[in-house]
Amino acid sequence: MIILGIDTSCDDTSIAVSRDRTVLANCISSQDSVHQEFGGVVPMLAKREHHANFQPVLMQALTEAGISIEDVDRIAITIGPGLAPALEIGVELAEQLAATHSLPIEPIHHMEGHLLSSLATNQDGSGGLDPSTVTFPALGILASGGHTEIVLISDWGKYEILGETVDDALGEAYDKVARMLGLGFPGGGKLAQLASFGNPRAYDLPLAMLQSGDCNVSYSGIKTATKRLIYEVSQNATQTLTTEQTQDIAASFQRAALFTFLKKIQKVLEKYPVNNVLLGGGVAVNTVFQEELERLLLPYEAKLSKPVSSRLCQDNGAMIAVAAYIHSQAQYHLPIEKLDRRPQWRLDDYSSALDFSSAL
Ligand code: KG4
Ligand code: ZN
Repeated sequence: MIILGIDTSCDDTSIAVSRDRTVLANCISSQDSVHQEFGGVVPMLAKREHHANFQPVLMQALTEAGISIEDVDRIAITIGPGLAPALEIGVELAEQLAATHSLPIEPIHHMEGHLLSSLATNQDGSGGLDPSTVTFPALGILASGGHTEIVLISDWGKYEILGETVDDALGEAYDKVARMLGLGFPGGGKLAQLASFGNPRAYDLPLAMLQSGDCNVSYSGIKTATKRLIYEVSQNATQTLTTEQTQDIAASFQRAALFTFLKKIQKVLEKYPVNNVLLGGGVAVNTVFQEELERLLLPYEAKLSKPVSSRLCQDNGAMIAVAAYIHSQAQYHLPIEKLDRRPQWRLDDYSSALDFSSAL
């Protein structure tokens, strides 16, 4: 099955082509340069950019995949969660495309895309987790700029959020601290890079929610404490931080932020013995996070599966196409009367709305 996967949930216009779960093309037009000067994503600008970039990215994806639109069997589109104007334009353009070429269109939850992104294989069919080897329940670990979730996967399409952030997402906290250190937006990746040169034990930052009894995390406290720390280390903002101080602050922040999330993941593992853990989202590219997670899973003998490329971790269309493929294999779909954007859609609400009696 040839699937055209489309995601315009935030500031990347992403269009991909997959053959089943093999990624033939995964094209992304980044809007970072447009939003940079505002220090965050401006929804109406994102919408305008998606509108302008949609056709060129579509052409690029088809060309890279070596196919024409006539070869496509179905369109998979993210309808939520995300920025309302950004989702809206993606849905509208995907619908027009589907109508012009008489193609079925499958609505997908953005976080299901991230959750299933480790199933995608390289263009030559190598890599990627084989879905037939997954045993249930499995766990999903999702960390991006908008979400931080620990998900129980009792079957394909059957998702329960066991733990999540009560305030900022993990990637969002990275971005905010990066901005405090003058690293621009989105600075999460740059902050992680600086952290790799720093001493993670240089400064003590609060480890939030450890005694909360649940599996939720919080990042607003760490963020505020890091702001205070930067102020103190820079002598009440009278001195510029040295490179070493910046690296140590970045490393100390990263240690605190990852530690609390890992502790909550461990809590879930104690309760739910699983064989498979699926990692997804923009923060999944973080090598310290990956290594710490691997270490945490060792005594539980659970296998960690991560996306085969960093492109599959960030927002992309291929994960949406692969999710649609899993829908067809596992025989489920989202029954809806009218295709519409759903900016505030929870993964478990999506899961409960799915129809497991047939594929689209
Ligand atoms: O999944 P994604 O591309 O978009 C959302 O759905 O949010 O995730 C982007 C997030 C940003 O917050 C970015 O700063 C963060 O992922 N990120 C990282 C790293 N690279 C990107 N966070 C920590 N370490 C990294 N190496
Ligand atoms: Zn995302």
